[in-house]
Amino acid sequence: MQAVAVWPERRSVDVVEVAAPALGSPLEVRLRMLAVGVCGTDAEICSFSYGGTPPEGEESLIVGHEAIGLVIETGPEVSRLRTGDLAVPMVRRPCTVPHCSPCRSGHPDFCVTGEYTERGIKGAHGFLAGEVVEEERYLVAVPPPLREVGVLTEPLTIAEKALRQFVEVRRRFPWLSTASEAELLAGGSAVVLGAGAVGILGCMLLRQRGFQVVVYSRGRKPNPSAALVESLGAAYVSSEETPLVEVSRRAGAIDLVYEATGASKLAFDALQYLGANGVFVFTGVPGRKARVEIAADAIMRNLVLRNQTVLGTVNAGRADYEAAIRDLELFQAAWPGALAALITGRYPMSRFCDRARSHDKIKDVIEPADAK
Ligand code: BGC
Repeated sequence: MQAVAVWPERRSVDVVEVAAPALGSPLEVRLRMLAVGVCGTDAEICSFSYGGTPPEGEESLIVGHEAIGLVIETGPEVSRLRTGDLAVPMVRRPCTVPHCSPCRSGHPDFCVTGEYTERGIKGAHGFLAGEVVEEERYLVAVPPPLREVGVLTEPLTIAEKALRQFVEVRRRFPWLSTASEAELLAGGSAVVLGAGAVGILGCMLLRQRGFQVVVYSRGRKPNPSAALVESLGAAYVSSEETPLVEVSRRAGAIDLVYEATGASKLAFDALQYLGANGVFVFTGVPGRKARVEIAADAIMRNLVLRNQTVLGTVNAGRADYEAAIRDLELFQAAWPGALAALITGRYPMSRFCDRARSHDKIKDVIEPADAK
């Protein structure tokens, strides 16, 4: 079968012929991969600046971490998935260090040792291959109506985990300690930085939960991302036309900033406009670039005088995957066609790096040759 692999030593990314995987334990499932999304992390892998670490003792890594596949074989001890089901694989696998409580309790997305592996990114082969074998506990079933858009599950899990963190932070306020999740979120005002797939999926989630949302992104209107954002009942504001201070005037007191660009300067500038008791969530992983100047005193004053919280969030757990799948169904019902419009192109494996690096997309997906 074919796969796309990165060779960090010789700095190349190629379509290669590899042996198809076979079940190695009774708990495993074999999937035929239907679609694999490309994202900013893949762009970094293609420029050899982040990720792309081969498994121990190997020279190359099969890439791809946002995926959906069709179950074609199940081991005798697989209990929930059946041949013909659709499934999305989770990305991160736990470290083996005994004192890592998050990993030992099944939450490697909070791993403290950094020795976790991530399929398609760090130390474990990914999903951009004709077939993949995975343990059932790392697979999440997807209902058939989501077949075409289920590849968006993984990027949506980033927002699901972020929102869960936001809820936990809000719950620390004594007058909200017994509030339901819906009450905690009701009437909130959010600014989303970035109108890529992670930003727009975050916007969908926040709109679905009743937030007023402003998406702040580079491109001027009209553009496809802006049209999509506005179809969700959110506002789209271009950073080329409108300064952040104006966004903060329009948005009122900002309860949540959901950062989805990886642009540190923009993020710290936006942090100045976070409202009282507000939460700023970082999700982007910036490359190591030149130092940037930020309004440190203003930011620190606000953090203290306004009881603000800044948190970073990476990866996601099973609960976030299950929530993402439920929410994709809600999004389909609320905004028919919107998820499909997020997928701007479907390409063969040979286009992986060029689509990862391109800026003329929202979410491009790669379809392994024998996907259908
Ligand atoms: C992936 C996460 C991963 C992170 C850091 C992101 O692109 O969506 O699953 O944890 O990169 O490697």
